[in-house]
Amino acid sequence: MTMASRRPVALLGAVLLLIGSAGCELRQAMYDQEKYEPLEASAFFADGMSFRPQVDGTVAQGQLMLDEHFYQGKVQGQLAATLPVAVDRQLLEHGRARFNIFCAPCHDRTGSGNGMVVQRGLKQPPSFHQERLREVPVGHFYDVMTNGFGVMYSYASRIPVADRWAIVAYIKVLQLSQNLEFDQLPAEDQRQLQ
Ligand code: HEC
Repeated sequence: MTMASRRPVALLGAVLLLIGSAGCELRQAMYDQEKYEPLEASAFFADGMSFRPQVDGTVAQGQLMLDEHFYQGKVQGQLAATLPVAVDRQLLEHGRARFNIFCAPCHDRTGSGNGMVVQRGLKQPPSFHQERLREVPVGHFYDVMTNGFGVMYSYASRIPVADRWAIVAYIKVLQLSQNLEFDQLPAEDQRQLQ
């Protein structure tokens, strides 16, 4: 490279450096501007706080949980008798995976209530195959997971709403697996048993 072509490059570098430092000063000015820090006191508002209270009825984005069936497991205040989600194989597989992770340690993989934690001394939960729990509305299972039941704590903070419904659907599968009428079996299975 000759000297002639090197000089413009140096000049360009100096110009870029200048622009860069101007940007830096601008950033600093915005950083130092007049503003309230979080929870700082304020002489401007009568209550002395810079933080303004929420307007009554404010709902955070994504938290308007109006769907009573989906979010509370209830329909007009009563435990829902139906699932608020469509059931397909994918949902059931997902429910099985979640059940085996979150519920089986106590309820065991079949739902009869002999999980490892119970074998080590925790109160034994009732079997999901007893008549009372076969007949309760599905909303009850959702409610138990959401709000806890007796010594069983709530799973609301650990299992998202949609996953709770997948688990409910899978519990119905477990119940059916132990209590199926002969004529509810697929024709193929009926033939094999006859
Ligand atoms: C740490 C152990 C443990 C885990 C994990 C657990 N449970 Fe339970 N569950 C219990 C116990 C203990 C009871 C009985 C509570 C009582 O009667 O005081 C119970 C009761 C229940 C009942 C019966 C309520 C009734 O009407 O009698 C249901 C339904 C249930 N659990 C569902 C679940 C589901 C679904 C999961 C997984 C998301 C789960 N549990 C995870 C321990 C557990």
